[in-house]
Formats: sequence, C-alpha cells, structure tokens
Amino acid sequence: MQGASKTALMVCAYRARCSRWERPLFVDRWAEQLAGEEGAQYAAGFDRHWPAMEAWMALRVAFLDRLVAITSDRLGVRQVVILGAGYDTRAARLPYAGVRWFEVDHPDTQAAKRERLGRVPGYPVDAATYASCDFEREDPVDRLRAAGLSPREATLVIWEGVVPYLSEAAVRATASRLAAGLDPRSLVSFDCVGKNMAEGVKLNERDQETRQFVGDLAEPVRFGSDHITPLLADCGYRWVRTVSFDDLALQYLGDYKRDRLFRFQRMVTCSASVPDAPWL
Ligand SMILES: C[S@@+](CC[C@H](N)C(=O)[O-])C[C@H]1O[C@@H](n2cnc3c(N)ncnc32)[C@H](O)[C@@H]1O
Repeated sequence: MQGASKTALMVCAYRARCSRWERPLFVDRWAEQLAGEEGAQYAAGFDRHWPAMEAWMALRVAFLDRLVAITSDRLGVRQVVILGAGYDTRAARLPYAGVRWFEVDHPDTQAAKRERLGRVPGYPVDAATYASCDFEREDPVDRLRAAGLSPREATLVIWEGVVPYLSEAAVRATASRLAAGLDPRSLVSFDCVGKNMAEGVKLNERDQETRQFVGDLAEPVRFGSDHITPLLADCGYRWVRTVSFDDLALQYLGDYKRDRLFRFQRMVTCSASVPDAPWL
C-alpha cells in the first residue's frame, strides 16, 4: 500500500449504500460523508467488475456487528480492537456500556481518517483510542499496550478487509502476536479470500478484473488461503470457526445465488483458547 488506503474509502462508500436499503442490515450514518465523492467513485468503478460487492459488504459488516454484540452481552468482552480500521465507525455506532474501543491502522490511513472525521459534525472522535502500526514491520500488540489496552482482559479483535492486502509473513506475525500477547480468551475475526484470488491464477475474466481493480488502487491482493486452520494452529490458535459468505447470505438475506460468486470467501473467527460458549 502506498499512502492512505483507497480501498478503505471504497468500502466506506459501500457501507453508505447498504445503510440506504429498505431493510438495512445496519445503518452507518457517517459513512456517506466520510467516503465522499472519491469513495463513491471507487465503489461505482468496482461495481462494474463485481456487482455483488454491496451485498457482500453488508454481510461482512452485519456478521461483525453481531459478534461485537454477542461478545459484549454474553462473554463480557469490554475491549474491542479494530485492526486496519480505515473509516470504520463502530466505536460511534455501537456504544455498548463499558466497552473501550481501539483503532489501529497504517499511519497514512489513520491520519487521513482523522482529517476526514474532523470535517464530520457531531462525530464522537474520542469514542476510540487511536494507535498507528504498519503490520508489515511493526507489532500491533506493543502499540495497543502502549495505548492502554489491558493484556489481562478478554478482547475482541476485528480484522476486517485487511488480511488479503498483507504479505503472508505479516499475516503470520500479526496473528502470532495477537495469540501470544492478548488475554487467551480473546477472539480474532477476519475475512479471507481463496488462494487462487491471491495468486491471480485459474481465475475467470471477472475475478481477474476484480483483482486488478484493487491492484490499480495501489493495494494488490497478496494473501489468500483455502484452508486457514494450519496457519492459525502454527500461530498459536486453538479454536477456529469459518463461515462462507453464501452461508451468511442465506442467514441474513434468506437466499442462495450462485452468480454472486461468494463461494471462495470466508469469515474466520479464532481464539488461543476454547471459548466457554458452545453457541459461538
Ligand atoms: C479495505 S480497507 C478496510 C478498512 C476497514 N477495516 C473497513 O472494513 O472498512 C484496508 C485497510 O487495511 C489497512 N492496511 C493495509 N495494509 C496495511 C499495513 N501494512 N499496515 C497497517 N494497515 C494496513 C489500510 O490502511 C486500510 O485501512
């Protein structure tokens, strides 16, 4: 990634669009202003290659919002970290009592976000504590501890829309540090694309164009896996659950449509210990 993330503006624009659905899965009242015309243009460009992106974004956000709700209500989690936060507004949208929010991002994107937040009237900038980190060369747990995160309290880490853009070494280093450096009851949740998408092999024309589009935004897809459990086991995790976007569409939208091409992407949730929550 060179400079502030453009894909972060693009997905923010998609959140604005999802918020206008007749029956929205979530409402992000700040997304439209944060994304601005620039974000809306990137999203319109991406639509031409993968029209199902808006629905995919709605599912990703809804899944993670629900994880925040259930870990806070039923597991007593009081620290939430948004890793690679981009223009995430959960700290403002989901103000659960007693929950402390930490946003970690590449310094260039974080500076751009804070500049944009300053132009959004009424946005509670202090709802989150901010820490910068380049996952390719820095340790997010050190940054979080320096920012006041307690390593002795269970933490939910949301790593949304970031893993595909990192090198495998950075994915492994970051995942390992989270497993070793946070309270073992902590949960980490992220989305993962398939290996072929990451490597740009055996893709149909539309998938190839989709991959090229984000590459042209200076954020090439670099990491993907069809079976993430071995990597997570190496990194110190003991419990892993994956769910496909088709399964999420069935749950949240009530249908299955093969032409969405959702079948190679998954949400992964993992922990260094087995959660005392058989319903998770
Ligand atoms: C597609 S955006 C997702 C933003 C946000 N999580 C969301 O879903 O709206 C990708 C994010 O990954 C971050 N990112 C990419 N490479 C990074 C790196 N090496 N270190 C830290 N953050 C990185 C970008 O700054 C950006 O915020």
